Amino acid sequence: MFESLPPIGFGGMPLSIQGRPSEEVGRRVIQAAVDAGMTLVDTADVYCLDDSDIGHNERLIASALQGRSDVNIATKGGLRRPRGAWTNDASPQHLREACEKSLRALGVDQIWLYQLHAPDPRVSFASSVEALAELQREGKIRHVGLSNVSVKEIELARSIVNVVSVQNRLNPYFRESIPVAKYCAKEDIAFLAYSPVGGGRLAKKLPEFDVLWPIAASHDASVHAVTIAWVRAQGSTVIPIPAARTAEHAIDSAKAASITLTADELARIDEAEFSRA
Ligand SMILES: NC(=O)c1ccc[n+]([C@@H]2O[C@H](COP(=O)([O-])OP(=O)(O)OC[C@H]3O[C@@H](n4cnc5c(N)ncnc54)[C@H](OP(=O)(O)O)[C@@H]3O)[C@@H](O)[C@H]2O)c1
Repeated sequence: MFESLPPIGFGGMPLSIQGRPSEEVGRRVIQAAVDAGMTLVDTADVYCLDDSDIGHNERLIASALQGRSDVNIATKGGLRRPRGAWTNDASPQHLREACEKSLRALGVDQIWLYQLHAPDPRVSFASSVEALAELQREGKIRHVGLSNVSVKEIELARSIVNVVSVQNRLNPYFRESIPVAKYCAKEDIAFLAYSPVGGGRLAKKLPEFDVLWPIAASHDASVHAVTIAWVRAQGSTVIPIPAARTAEHAIDSAKAASITLTADELARIDEAEFSRA
């Protein structure tokens, strides 16, 4: 699986939630990201406005990438969007229904990578994972992934099914998943780092951190691309999945693939405090 994966993937979420651009612009951004080398595209059934709009991002990506066999699309199930809220539902019944809808939204017979969006506190984690294992046995999904999980949860899931990927938040503001990224590297599991530049508001704050500017200058890159390069350096199987609502931002983030930070540059970012205030 890993041989075919790019160093940086693309996250589709902001193209379909509140504040999204037109679908025409969204398609152009996705095409620009893929053309820039981000040939792993991450989505979810719930990247939409509310429950009446489920699958918006999956349909958008599918329509943008029609006929491109060089791109892998990863989606997720396990949440709902009642009246626009984000709620958990990783019950086996919901996961099965969600997977069927995602197959239709993506227009495929088999989903390349299906990720449990998050453990559901009201459902036994093992039963959610078993539901994915069953969908895999039926051929509806090729690979199984997890998201928003601890090492303990990954180990429990691996006793039920082969887990090929873990998707957790990782950026200089939020570093609590670094041990999970290290575990994934040791176990040869892909670690998809979400919100790699901090997500919406915090992504805009990155230029405030002086530590990033000289490093960006020495690599002739943006502070965002340097941040993505730092995220990528947190484990040998880390694949950052930045999002963008403009082609310019997507292309800029893709440049992180060719940035290798020195040990000294990594240490300077490690030691810096990234206040979220
Ligand atoms: N599994 C989960 O629970 C979960 C949760 C959150 C996200 N995700 C996934 O991870 C993906 C990325 O996460 P995210 O959207 O939260 O955060 P992100 O990628 O850290 O930040 C996205 C925002 O940063 C800005 N940005 C990105 N690259 C930039 C650049 N090179 N220069 C300037 N600005 C840049 C973009 O602004 P513009 O919009 O102005 O272009 C974009 O809206 C999502 O799309 C989704 O696929 C998963």
